[in-house]
Amino acid sequence: MEFYLDTADVAAVERLAGVLPIKGVTTNPSIVARGKSDIYSVLRDMQAIIGTEGQLFAQVMSRDPDVMVEEALKLREVIPSLVVKVPVTHAGLSAIRQLTVLDIPTLGTAVYGAGQGFYAALAGARYIAPYVNRIDAQGGDGIALVKELQTLINLHSPQTQVLAASFRTPRQVLDCLLAGCRAITVDPAVAELFLQDPAVEDALNRFDHDWQARFGHADLG
Ligand code: G3P
Repeated sequence: MEFYLDTADVAAVERLAGVLPIKGVTTNPSIVARGKSDIYSVLRDMQAIIGTEGQLFAQVMSRDPDVMVEEALKLREVIPSLVVKVPVTHAGLSAIRQLTVLDIPTLGTAVYGAGQGFYAALAGARYIAPYVNRIDAQGGDGIALVKELQTLINLHSPQTQVLAASFRTPRQVLDCLLAGCRAITVDPAVAELFLQDPAVEDALNRFDHDWQARFGHADLG
């Protein structure tokens, strides 16, 4: 199981890397554009936090397949182990095929359909990222798509991984994991929601109260 944070917020990664067993960090152009640093600085800063074992993802910007490949090579000059995110379009599929020949790992992104994502698997992408919440937000069923895509992958391309993305709720995340996704990327704010049930703090306060009432101190003694 691979758990990623979907962010360019270096401080958030630093905070959560000590708490959650993250495999690495995914970014996209919008996420990077929200920050103050350029993509190369963000990637270097992230690598420093997660270490060389940590896996980073960054996306190409061109709409031309040959330029996508050039951008991928440039990104990998900075982070040699980077997985290159490529939108699953006509141009993107061509780029994924070229990068696969070069033995450069790719993630097919901006996936809104099971067939579209499956094309990326056939082209050689290591990961496929369906956009769960964005599909839900346009009136679709993101989890249903993930289930279909995961079934297609299990049947026909088991070396590929569905790396589910775009979440607003913990329920969406859990449903993807229950559908069999072996990789997932979550915004830090959504990742934190799993630990924000006020009932937990209430339970701890009750333990503190009962213990102190009996023993007069808060620790084990
Ligand atoms: O990076 C792609 C995906 O994670 C986008 O998520 O939150 O912008 O819908 P979001």
